[in-house]
Amino acid sequence: MLQKIDELLQEVSAVHISTKEELEQFRLRFLSKKGELQTLFAAFKDVPAEQKKEYGQKINTLKQAIQDTFDTLQKSFDDSANQTIAFDVSLPGTPFRLGSRHPLSIVRNTIIDIFSKIGFTVSEGPEIEDDWHVFTALNFPLEHPARDMQDTFFIESNPDVILRTHTSSVQVRVMENTQPPIRAVFPGRVFRNEAISARAHCIFHQVEGLYIDTQVSFADLKQTLLYFAKEMFGEQTQIRLRPSYFPFTEPSAEMDISCSLCGGKGCGVCKYSGWVEILGCGMVDPNVLSSSGIDSSKYTGFAFGMGIERIAMLKYQIKDIRLFFENDLRFIKQFLAAQ
Ligand code: DAH
Repeated sequence: MLQKIDELLQEVSAVHISTKEELEQFRLRFLSKKGELQTLFAAFKDVPAEQKKEYGQKINTLKQAIQDTFDTLQKSFDDSANQTIAFDVSLPGTPFRLGSRHPLSIVRNTIIDIFSKIGFTVSEGPEIEDDWHVFTALNFPLEHPARDMQDTFFIESNPDVILRTHTSSVQVRVMENTQPPIRAVFPGRVFRNEAISARAHCIFHQVEGLYIDTQVSFADLKQTLLYFAKEMFGEQTQIRLRPSYFPFTEPSAEMDISCSLCGGKGCGVCKYSGWVEILGCGMVDPNVLSSSGIDSSKYTGFAFGMGIERIAMLKYQIKDIRLFFENDLRFIKQFLAAQ
């Protein structure tokens, strides 16, 4: 009997009640006329005389605990019921935090907007690619170092399955499926087997551009890129094109913009040259056009490709590329206003 009281005491002190129905069950079980407490009181007369004192004390403790538990819970249910009734609908709500866009999304969207104003559409292609679309169709000779395992992530069991190293692969896909005129940009994520540092990452983003039609010339390329540079970095921005080499364009160039930080006077960002490189470009090599089913005697075109991280780092003066991938809210939140 004494042990039974102890057990009930323990049970009551650990009881978990979350609804009014459960509280009523509790009341019926312990406090009603046929409840546990009454039964224990009724059994008092049969308790041996030497245990009566202890039994009496324990049963009173139990009674108190049950009553206290019941009273407290009942009061809290009543209070919350009253609260619902007294709920003031005119009180201001809990503020809802709006998320902010990632700086790379902001820059990608800006690039797309700038080109869509002059009639470029947007397409995307797969991140997991094959050798044809990333290299062969783009005129990369078989022994070109970019195919080396150092730069490209291959799947060991099938070296034809690769993670694309540039968004130029989407050019090929679009040319295979569309006849000119083609005027489009291809944003996306690319992968290179690079050591991660403040300047380089193994995952980054590019936007590729492609324009193919009859009589497209290098002058069209230059004017399009000048328009882009001014829209992106401000009206005062100047560009310069330096001869370069890419297997898929002929002639090829790299484009610099006048340093947006020092305005061309020379600073740490432009390494005191006044110019910073932002993209690669060129006239699409006729081989590339014909590999993808486009008549190179009829059509010409230009292409360009830029790194979104690079543009964002210049625009927002971010010194470490790794910040884009850490998802530290203190960093990411800063770009809300810039949108
Ligand atoms: N695909 C080049 C890269 O990953 C960038 C590039 C250069 C793209 C010249 C082009 C181009 O379309 O014409 O670095």
